[in-house]
Amino acid sequence: MKVNDIMDINKIRKDFYVLNNNDLAYLDNAASTLKPKQVIDAVTYYYEKLGVNIHRGVYRLSYEATDLYEKARQKVAELLNCQFEEAVFTRGASNALNLIALSYGMNHIEEGDEIITSELEHHSSMLPWQNVARAKKAKLVYVPLNEENKITVENFKKVLSNKTKVVALNYISNAMGYMTPVEEIIKLAHEKNAIVILDAAQAVPHIPVNVKALDCDFLAFSGHKMCGPTGIGVLYGKYNLLKEMEPIEFGGDMIDYVGLNEVTYKDPPYKFETGTPIIASAIGLGRAIDYIKAIGFKDIMKHERMLRDELIDKMSQIKGITIHNPNTDTGIISFNINGVHPHDAASVFDEENVAIRAGHHCAQPLMHCLNEIATIRASVYFYNTREDINRLVKAINKAKAFFENFM
Ligand SMILES: Cc1ncc(COP(=O)(O)O)c(C=O)c1O
Repeated sequence: MKVNDIMDINKIRKDFYVLNNNDLAYLDNAASTLKPKQVIDAVTYYYEKLGVNIHRGVYRLSYEATDLYEKARQKVAELLNCQFEEAVFTRGASNALNLIALSYGMNHIEEGDEIITSELEHHSSMLPWQNVARAKKAKLVYVPLNEENKITVENFKKVLSNKTKVVALNYISNAMGYMTPVEEIIKLAHEKNAIVILDAAQAVPHIPVNVKALDCDFLAFSGHKMCGPTGIGVLYGKYNLLKEMEPIEFGGDMIDYVGLNEVTYKDPPYKFETGTPIIASAIGLGRAIDYIKAIGFKDIMKHERMLRDELIDKMSQIKGITIHNPNTDTGIISFNINGVHPHDAASVFDEENVAIRAGHHCAQPLMHCLNEIATIRASVYFYNTREDINRLVKAINKAKAFFENFM
């Protein structure tokens, strides 16, 4: 049976043990994606065949492990279209976004400066700058969201000023799936000499991201949201910015020279990768990038949008559902079953083996804008099928029917 019109999903799904071993409609991909066996094999290869430290070992196994780790960085650089030296491995997007705020932010922001962010941010994009603003007596300025809760260029212009020093925004919202008009925002911010940080945790796994074309100053993403292992992420930074930034962690592997009262650091990216790096996960991320590229972003986007349209179409026919983002740009759909707490609904979905996310999605300020304490979020990836969508719709109907008895 042809499962869809775009990709050979049946073949792709065979790569995912979790899908093979569970009768599961997995629709929580914005939280984390599943990992294909190719990625697991790459991680296992490191542990089974190498298992040693990198950079410092003068023996064959260490050379090979170093080579695999640095090749993974090269894959990141090619994926983002940046220089090799501009790709810093971190523990994840949160870790990368904190690094920028603690290093660049704490050393460049002064009293009275303004930092632009939005209520549409994941807490990891917003809180590091709340912290900087508090410490430096700077002002956090929020782009007013429009009536659909989107960031628009028009509204961005309203808050951009000569005092703006930093713009920290999501590229794609994890709670609403909207794409921020980052190209124009970056141009406008640069006219004011402000730097732009993109939280691309929901973008890099789903769309082609070209940092040189965008001209963003920093960008962050996580490996585990794009078929890679947990515990690995990337901070992209323009080389001249990374070069002048101070490390935020100090210790092994990041130094050139250490005296009793002085130290010189390695050049980027190494001065930010203190201690034994996340070797196995970086290697796994490199393999995940190969895997995703082989499928191709064009087909990934087409497939996700096809599933999104189908889900929104089917959900729109059910009475008593509020879809918060019917014009979502991606495969992230946020909704509520009126009168039913999202966690209660999620429990019913779980009985049907449908995995979604219920909660505030680490975007509590947005929940105020939506007038909800929490939402249900379904998020698709390339291995999802129309069958998954049908199962969610069935689960929604079941939850509605069940809770209607109590209303
Ligand atoms: C938009 C966005 N930014 C940042 C993060 C934080 O990513 P991590 O938890 O991998 O550090 C997430 C995770 O959900 C996200 O969706």
